Amino acid sequence: MSQSKRIVVVGASRGLGLALAEEYCARNWHVIATSRGQSEGLDELRERYPSLLEIETVDTTDIASIRALARQLETVSLDALFVNAGICKANTLTPLEVAEKDFLDMMSTNALGPMRVVEALYDQIAKQGVIAIMSSELGSIANCTGFWELYSSSKAALNMLMKAFSARQGDKSCSLILIAPGWVQTEMGGANATLEIAQSIPFVVDVVEQSAGIPGLRFVNRHGEILPW
Ligand SMILES: NC(=O)c1ccc[n+]([C@@H]2O[C@H](COP(=O)([O-])OP(=O)(O)OC[C@H]3O[C@@H](n4cnc5c(N)ncnc54)[C@H](OP(=O)(O)O)[C@@H]3O)[C@@H](O)[C@H]2O)c1
Repeated sequence: MSQSKRIVVVGASRGLGLALAEEYCARNWHVIATSRGQSEGLDELRERYPSLLEIETVDTTDIASIRALARQLETVSLDALFVNAGICKANTLTPLEVAEKDFLDMMSTNALGPMRVVEALYDQIAKQGVIAIMSSELGSIANCTGFWELYSSSKAALNMLMKAFSARQGDKSCSLILIAPGWVQTEMGGANATLEIAQSIPFVVDVVEQSAGIPGLRFVNRHGEILPW
């Protein structure tokens, strides 16, 4: 029997991250799923997949917890890393109205934190492996309509940081993807979102699997179509 591939999913307590962990387990991957606190969803998943799912603690705004995970995985080779953690605060407000802390929290969680995870775990990713980060269609500057502008700016900042990271790696990098899942019914997406989780996450995982061995950075949607920066 062939050995399971290994992935770390960061921010897997609920919503899209939990669904990613479940989808990878269902595809027989070994999944190291992180949450920043107790997650009933992950606990239940571990009961279903005791030999495939490990749970670790990471808060992406706490660099010590990122470094602790990196130390723990020092001798492990990963086929994929998926950084999913993200927040949306004050989505309808403008720069003049928003509480500064809410804006800074989004920048820290959606842009700085994911890139710190990528940098800290980069040496663990196999050459033919994939690093994926959950971005958003709203992170596209070219397609901006002003909708959820503060959240959108944090995802645009994420995209820029990933672009800069990719430029630093040159043509030596593994596959790097910023992926937009569509508008999905989760706590963040809300009940009016156009997609159910099952209409998004299996496609997202297909794109990540198909990206193995393709070096360089792409900003894509759940169907693998290139999105404008
Ligand atoms: N739903 C959509 O329509 C949509 C569309 C485009 C992009 N996205 C992106 O997809 C990702 C997941 O969104 P979702 O819809 O599943 O949202 P969600 O239901 O609110 O879940 C957010 C997840 O991120 C985790 N998280 C938040 N801050 C964290 C931190 N500092 N450290 C570690 N984990 C943290 C949460 O953990 P806790 O349980 O500890 O809070 C939770 O697991 C986000 O990056 C979001 O921006 C979502």
